[in-house]
Amino acid sequence: MTANLLNGREIAKDYRAGLAEEVEKLKENGITPNLTVIIAGNDGASLSYVRSKNRAAEKIGMTSDIVHLDEDATEDEVLEELDRLNNDDNVSGILVQVPLPDQISEEKVLESIAPHKDVDGFSPVNIGRMYTGQRTFIPCTPLGIMELLKHTGSLEGKDIAVIGRSHIVGQPVAKLLTDQNATVTLMHSRTKNMTDKLSGFDVIVSAVGSPGLIKAEHIKDGAIVIDVGNTMVGDKLVGDVDFDAAKEKAGWITPVPGGVGPLTITMVLNNTLLAAKWHNG
Ligand code: GUN
Repeated sequence: MTANLLNGREIAKDYRAGLAEEVEKLKENGITPNLTVIIAGNDGASLSYVRSKNRAAEKIGMTSDIVHLDEDATEDEVLEELDRLNNDDNVSGILVQVPLPDQISEEKVLESIAPHKDVDGFSPVNIGRMYTGQRTFIPCTPLGIMELLKHTGSLEGKDIAVIGRSHIVGQPVAKLLTDQNATVTLMHSRTKNMTDKLSGFDVIVSAVGSPGLIKAEHIKDGAIVIDVGNTMVGDKLVGDVDFDAAKEKAGWITPVPGGVGPLTITMVLNNTLLAAKWHNG
């Protein structure tokens, strides 16, 4: 069979059209949502990702700023910027691009983002709120994955393998999938015979960053395959899944690029809109 394509660009476009309408309504009430991104250093991929978020915010009528610090910026400089942004009423959402240069403690920085502006949902307060089911900002990639999966039908009772246990993707998406009554197995670098086990699962979510990790033979006929991997190989962005072969086996599959990525950015916008609404409502 040939899989149905989960076209992230199209799904994101429709979702953003809805967000743009809501932004317009907020602006009529005198509130302009603003997303401000802090980045330290000149990593090409990170810079390009930050600029994409910035452009996407402006395209739906928000304002957006980038605070670009040097590679050798000190932790105090980042904390000072955060303090300024935390206290600026024109800033709805703040995002600090990670990884940060080695001299800056990510833990300290993430702890210092005001929870009501933490649109990534990375601060310990918001992580705690998410796991206890309170209203909060849910991390954007997991939220984007859930939005893609809505297009494939109910997850109730599905056996799902999540590969990768990061705080940004693997662990939170496992929680969100469990909330949808799926049975989740969280796999990682120490899982024994990992790829051999995958053919028992209805859904595979791979967030490793290892091109070619998942091949057609690892996929059950008709399974849903969500590829969160994004690794630059030469000048090409590639996922964890051998897409060309896997699409002949899977029921649904995301391409890379154009799958999860556009939804992640869309959810940054979604959370920024929520930040503007919640703080003013
Ligand atoms: N670096 C890689 N992914 C992300 C993300 O979702 N948010 C931030 N702030 N940094 C990242």
